[in-house]
Amino acid sequence: MLGHTRGKRSAVTCALKCDNACSKAVCNTSANSYFRDIVSAEFSRRTALGAGAAGVLGAAVLALSGPATTAAAAPPGRGPKAGRLAFTPIAPVDAAVDSFDVPAGYDWEPLLRWGDPLFADSPEFNFGAQNAAAQARQFGYNNDYLEILRQPNGKKGLLVCNHEYVNPEIMFPAAPASAAEELERRNIFRNAVGMSVVELERSNRGKPWSYVRGAKLNRRITLDTVFELTGPAAGSDLLKTAADPQGRYVSGTLGNCAGGSTPWGTVLSGEENFNGFFRTDGTSAEDKRYGLGSEATAMGWEQEDPRFDARTPETRNEPNRFGYIVELDPEDPESVPRKHTSLGRFKHEGANVIIARNGRAVAYSGDDERFDYLYKFVSKNKYRKNDKRHNMTLLSEGDLYVARFAGNSPESEIDGTGAVPSDGGFDGRGTWLPLVVRGKSAVAGMSVEEVLVYTRLAADKAGATKMDRCEDVEPNPATGHVYVACTNNSNRGVDGKAPVDEANPRRENRDGHIVEIIEARDDATATDFRWNLLMLCGDPAQGDVTYFSGYPRDKVSPISCPDNLAFDSAGNLWISTDGAPSGIGYNDGLFKVGLSGRERGRVEQFLSVPRDGETCGPVIHDEESMVFVAVQHPGEDGSYGAHTSYFPDYVPDGGTPGRGEVRAPRPSVVQVFT
Ligand code: FEO
Ligand code: CA
Ligand code: CA
Ligand code: CA
Repeated sequence: MLGHTRGKRSAVTCALKCDNACSKAVCNTSANSYFRDIVSAEFSRRTALGAGAAGVLGAAVLALSGPATTAAAAPPGRGPKAGRLAFTPIAPVDAAVDSFDVPAGYDWEPLLRWGDPLFADSPEFNFGAQNAAAQARQFGYNNDYLEILRQPNGKKGLLVCNHEYVNPEIMFPAAPASAAEELERRNIFRNAVGMSVVELERSNRGKPWSYVRGAKLNRRITLDTVFELTGPAAGSDLLKTAADPQGRYVSGTLGNCAGGSTPWGTVLSGEENFNGFFRTDGTSAEDKRYGLGSEATAMGWEQEDPRFDARTPETRNEPNRFGYIVELDPEDPESVPRKHTSLGRFKHEGANVIIARNGRAVAYSGDDERFDYLYKFVSKNKYRKNDKRHNMTLLSEGDLYVARFAGNSPESEIDGTGAVPSDGGFDGRGTWLPLVVRGKSAVAGMSVEEVLVYTRLAADKAGATKMDRCEDVEPNPATGHVYVACTNNSNRGVDGKAPVDEANPRRENRDGHIVEIIEARDDATATDFRWNLLMLCGDPAQGDVTYFSGYPRDKVSPISCPDNLAFDSAGNLWISTDGAPSGIGYNDGLFKVGLSGRERGRVEQFLSVPRDGETCGPVIHDEESMVFVAVQHPGEDGSYGAHTSYFPDYVPDGGTPGRGEVRAPRPSVVQVFT
């Protein structure tokens, strides 16, 4: 085993991306007890799986097909279309190999790379001489969430993506030559995170895209871009600082990880590991619960930007202004992006929206921290077709819930090995516990503002179920069923930490699992649900105890550490991974998973990303036989001048260092096509 996570996640990733969250004390020390509710046979696995697609399509929203597209309810009773995108699964690629692999018959090329010039006046990327002004006008680093919106004619598109963090050790030589150079680097990093919006064009459907330099909608969001806070906590004392005495506007967004695309054409992005950018007293219960510490930060921005030093009365609330779901309208380059306090503050992986049958917007979001929680927001107001201005207010007002799971098998059968209980599945019922309802706090002793700013503490009090790191949480547009990627939790069941439970059934869960949630009456606004585990990930060939909903273990691609989720038009689930399977380690990949009938639980690997990289932001346009991924932190375990990856500018025969101009890895968005 390499380090404290499964497979190949490196110490570099842990330090730069998550502020070493996994090697520090667990943030959630609440005494939240394990909740178990033995329920009757009506909630058996057969029933849970059999509810299936029929009858719930009215609640679903079809995938976006273009910037102006709005949600359309699919006709009830019509099953998913047969998907295209036929492929023969690739074999897993050894982690020592630096290559990007796709199935036979497919080709790939980068669409946008770190440093690509986005505007007419943008300097060309110059790897050896990068500067902050250039970076602000170029594509950012470590792309994560990705959306490709298409106009109806298929020839124009709009790419939206976020940039989570930077890898200084492979961007620059080890030591800056001077204090001035060190400051310039910090400024480059500030301009390399955030978000990008870039127009695309191509000759026809199914053909690879090119990005349009200098296009009207191209935009960079950096730490200097102003965001407006919305919802009940906006303007509250908890969000006021000396620089923003009204508590209503925040410069920039941080730690943007996964996201989601709304039915009204905007893009959501989750502020995840924001804590690592702030230096605080580190003494309050709130600081501790959010992993805020007193050490100097890895980025060091507190040296010249006082807001990252939260140890003064003037800046104490600065960290309270990050940790939200942000919403960006990519069609309006002048728009002020928003931070929605109604969805709570935690390490949001992302958020995904579905329109319920009664017209309310329902957003699901996970808190990616060991033993943290799964949340659901239900809008007060209803979605209106073709009214983007109205729909952009939906996430500003509504009810917030947190999930509690109860299993239906005896505790003795959930023994921590991953062995399937005697009723044939890991399953049970769940409850959405209220945190804020009809504008009022549902948590004793906490105001609405406190619930929305210190959401983790509110959820502790409510008695939520501690999960194995919820990453992407996404409703399937074809069925309304919700999928939760629990990426891993090596602390599950050890050292007096929370024990295994039926929803998190493996001790030292290093490979992760996928939860399937079926809302009561297939109503996305319901306050109770049924659930089951779609799979326990791992590599059966290496003896891992795995479960694939009964699909033969010897016929699946090994998969570990599920992270981002997406769906194709046939309703298949696609999973990208962050942490390859098992001891020898494979490169991360993208996997297709069947959800219904005989295909349920069948895992097939579609692509593999380069050495040290993570597969992010999958976008599946199966009707065009195209797939897009954001390749994050390729070559992250290398160093400047001794790189472990030369992605994406390989010479045609692969392998050896790139085409001459950039002899270093560049995080990039890749398009795969036939
Ligand atoms: Fe940034 Fe939860 O992965
Ligand atoms: Ca069970
Ligand atoms: Ca992620
Ligand atoms: Ca997703």
